Amino acid sequence: MSNRDSIKNTFLVTGALCIICSVLVSGAAVGLKEKQDANAALDLKKNILSVSGIDFTDGDVEQLFTENIQARIVELTTGEYVNQTTSGLNLDTFDVKKLASDEMTDLNGDDPAGIGGERENYAVVYLFPEKQQLILPVRGKGLWSTLKGFVSVSADDFTTRGITFYSHGETPGLGGEVDNPAWKAQWSTAKETLDANGQVILNVTKSGAAGPNDIDGLAGATITTQGVDKLIKYWLGNDGFGAYLKSENKFAETSN
Ligand SMILES: Cc1cc2nc3c(=O)[nH]c(=O)nc-3n(C[C@H](O)[C@H](O)[C@H](O)COP(=O)(O)O)c2cc1C
Repeated sequence: MSNRDSIKNTFLVTGALCIICSVLVSGAAVGLKEKQDANAALDLKKNILSVSGIDFTDGDVEQLFTENIQARIVELTTGEYVNQTTSGLNLDTFDVKKLASDEMTDLNGDDPAGIGGERENYAVVYLFPEKQQLILPVRGKGLWSTLKGFVSVSADDFTTRGITFYSHGETPGLGGEVDNPAWKAQWSTAKETLDANGQVILNVTKSGAAGPNDIDGLAGATITTQGVDKLIKYWLGNDGFGAYLKSENKFAETSN
């Protein structure tokens, strides 16, 4: 009679269990990948609608997005839209994480927003023509994580219309208050971002929202607050979307 508790049997059962579980987990990961990607894409659209001030709670997100928002690829250095036919870049497949090394710019150690030492040469921006808003992707280091989101500005005077972060790992109740609607509401009150020379003057500060270019920071979260301040200054500045903000005809129809 065999001993069911033998070392051999224990290893056999453990091994079989490991294989079954890993097949189940990887099967689920592969099987659900499409659904996860679709959900992430939907979440992105919700964030873009919300930063544009479009209420989607009772509506069809896809429909509202299609009706109101247009996407374009921008070359950051020139600030011009990219021609999808000639550039090989395509809105449907564009992924910042998959850009080739010659499509990234080395920041040579000058990385105030903490974006990993290099910046993509191209970015997808969104337009809300009805309200003449520009929705720009932004990201930067907080305390624990890289905050990724969108800032919406008026195309006329670049004052703020909204902010949203769709991904971060800051502490709930502290840095995580970047998601608090009351904090985000400040951004929809037309805060000034650029001076006449195109220098970024918006401050996210712990000393309160004293001026027309001040956003009140987050209580008990100085480092996240500084992170948001730096990422906004970086992405609205000359090394980010500065050239794009100064460009003409942002809402012109394109054939690409
Ligand atoms: C568990 C824990 C989580 C924290 N999370 C954050 C955070 O998400 N963002 C942040 O700026 N500070 C966070 N802090 C606080 C920082 O360590 C630091 O004390 C704070 O940024 C200083 O801000 P204050 O001068 O407003 O208190 C956390 C502290 C602890 C103990």
